[in-house]
Amino acid sequence: MHPGLVSNGAPEPPATPAGQAAPDAVAVARAVVDAHRGDRGALLPILHGVQHALGHLPPEVVPVIAAELNLSRADVHGVVSFYKDFRRTPPGRCVVALCRAEACQAVGAEALAAGVQARLGVDAGGTRADGAVTLDDVYCLGNCALGPSVTVDGRLVGRATVDRVGALVDAALNHSAQVPA
Ligand code: FES
Repeated sequence: MHPGLVSNGAPEPPATPAGQAAPDAVAVARAVVDAHRGDRGALLPILHGVQHALGHLPPEVVPVIAAELNLSRADVHGVVSFYKDFRRTPPGRCVVALCRAEACQAVGAEALAAGVQARLGVDAGGTRADGAVTLDDVYCLGNCALGPSVTVDGRLVGRATVDRVGALVDAALNHSAQVPA
């Protein structure tokens, strides 16, 4: 399964959206490490666990995890940097993931991506300046027959259109937009 995706193929929802008070990141990191104590190959599960709890991996957790696993900070930082699913900054309050893989590309994913970027005012891989929306690229959501596929806060949307994605984002941000069927 693609790292950062839950079992239905959807991206993990942000646990701590931008603008909300974050829990003590170091305490969270220590608790997640404790839960994996004795596990072999625990680094990736720990990083995923901390990100799930905090919504991202703030820099202060890296030395904690490194020390607990007897790794260098550079080792941990290298893994965090290598996997694009690890966030080093908080996500927006609504996270949209656009499938850019081949089957969705064949049915208009690129045009959809351009339209969604324009509609939401955020570039792929970025978070809008107001912290409202993060737009991620993903590579296959397991919904290839109904592409182009998108998730909005983990909700899978098939045959996605710019209007539908925009309406779902508006709804997620507590706007009163009607969500087209
Ligand atoms: S290629 Fe987009 S869902 Fe599989």
